[in-house]
Amino acid sequence: MADTLTVKDNRTGKQYEIPISDGTIPASALREIKVDDEDFGLMSYDPAYKNTASCRSAITFIDGEKGILRYRGYPIEQLAEQSSFLEVSYLLLKGELPNQSELDTWVDKITHHTYVHQYMIQAMEGFKWDAHAMGKLVSLLGTLSTFYEDSKNVRNAAVRDEHIIKIIAKMPTIAAWCFRHMQGRPYIYPDNGLSYAGNFMNMLFRMAEPQYKPDPAIEKALDVLFILHADHEQNCSTSAARAVGSAETDPYCSLAAAAAALYGPLHGGANEAVLRMLEEIGNLGNIPGFIEGVKNRERRLMGFGHRVYKNYDPRARIIKKLAHEVFAVTGKNPLLEIALELEKIALNDEFFVERKLYPNVDFYSGLIYQSIGFPVEFFPVLFAIPRAAGWLAQWQEMLMDPEQKIARPMQIYTGAGERAYVPMDKR
Ligand code: SDX
Repeated sequence: MADTLTVKDNRTGKQYEIPISDGTIPASALREIKVDDEDFGLMSYDPAYKNTASCRSAITFIDGEKGILRYRGYPIEQLAEQSSFLEVSYLLLKGELPNQSELDTWVDKITHHTYVHQYMIQAMEGFKWDAHAMGKLVSLLGTLSTFYEDSKNVRNAAVRDEHIIKIIAKMPTIAAWCFRHMQGRPYIYPDNGLSYAGNFMNMLFRMAEPQYKPDPAIEKALDVLFILHADHEQNCSTSAARAVGSAETDPYCSLAAAAAALYGPLHGGANEAVLRMLEEIGNLGNIPGFIEGVKNRERRLMGFGHRVYKNYDPRARIIKKLAHEVFAVTGKNPLLEIALELEKIALNDEFFVERKLYPNVDFYSGLIYQSIGFPVEFFPVLFAIPRAAGWLAQWQEMLMDPEQKIARPMQIYTGAGERAYVPMDKR
């Protein structure tokens, strides 16, 4: 049997042989299907690209039915258990786990690029004190690009490598300074003697102590959360990074676009929306009424459901376990019991079961962030920091893919036919 599709156009009786490869057909083959020579040919119509592969990628593999997630073939459970975020960022970007010398060089380069230009403080001071942290992060990524005009040279591998390092290194610094700006506290500069997560905590929480000492359990939990959030194939924000990057936009502005997509409550903003939902529910007695509202489509159960996972998000399972380790240090988050009861109901209620709605990465992460001391509007920023590594890996893969060009989808035109301009006195 040949790997082809035989398509008969009943308008003309013509048959077409369309090749099948990698479980797809080339959309361009549809353009051959015409009723006459004037015909433009067929296109596929796929709003939100629910059944469209936009690229070939070797970075992340997800099996939504089985709840499988692998970075470059390595199961997320093993990476969360045995790796570190910086090692995972190397893996995502280079395709292989580093040996010790490669890892040491990678960590050293990132550690020594954590500073940002002092003018970034002026940019930060332009925001009102209660500006949402994600609005600041999106703007500051674009602002960073203005310090690195050479980063526009995206076809040069050495230039790409340099700015990939810079971005991974500087994300925690600008994120922490967004946090300090919200609190009206002075900015803390990087401490190169600390780990990636430890230094992030230093820039977030250090006060008058001569040197910040991160709590090891919290430092480890943040690093694991960074690993879990690092990449996730062609999600909304990664697709934004690829689309904007396909115009040869510099990596800083490509990631500003990605961060803007992540900000949405249906995407990375869901961890913030989950906490607001749990706080609104307030106690176990209000859960049945809330669930009714969800079934009546008045509300969404934030932190549940996923475009790809039709099983338990493997990251949610790891985060749920991690939560208990963090709470052993910070004290149990009082909203945990509402979250656990919501999960118990949803996993047994027909409405959620038939729609295959399971907890996703955002359902439990916010409980941890809140217990560590982050305000809810900072939660999406904690998603963006590690996802920068995934965005950069996907952005780079797009640039190196000979099949890729500037992203420019087609449309089905539903507007008016040609009509003459109407002078004002005739309207
Ligand atoms: C992330 O893509 C990624 O990989 C994203 C991400 C990553 O790592 O990058 O995994 C991170 O964004 C996780 C998702 C976080 N978002 C939320 O938790 C918000 C709540 N979830 C939903 O809004 C929704 O599940 C989405 C957006 C995640 C997925 O939406 P889909 O695939 O477009 O599904 P849909 O909206 O078409 O819903 C299918 C059905 C509908 O039922 P009907 O109205 O047709 O009867 O399921 C229902 C929806 O109403 N549904 C929900 C629901 N999610 C879907 N009903 C109640 N609560 C929900 N959360």
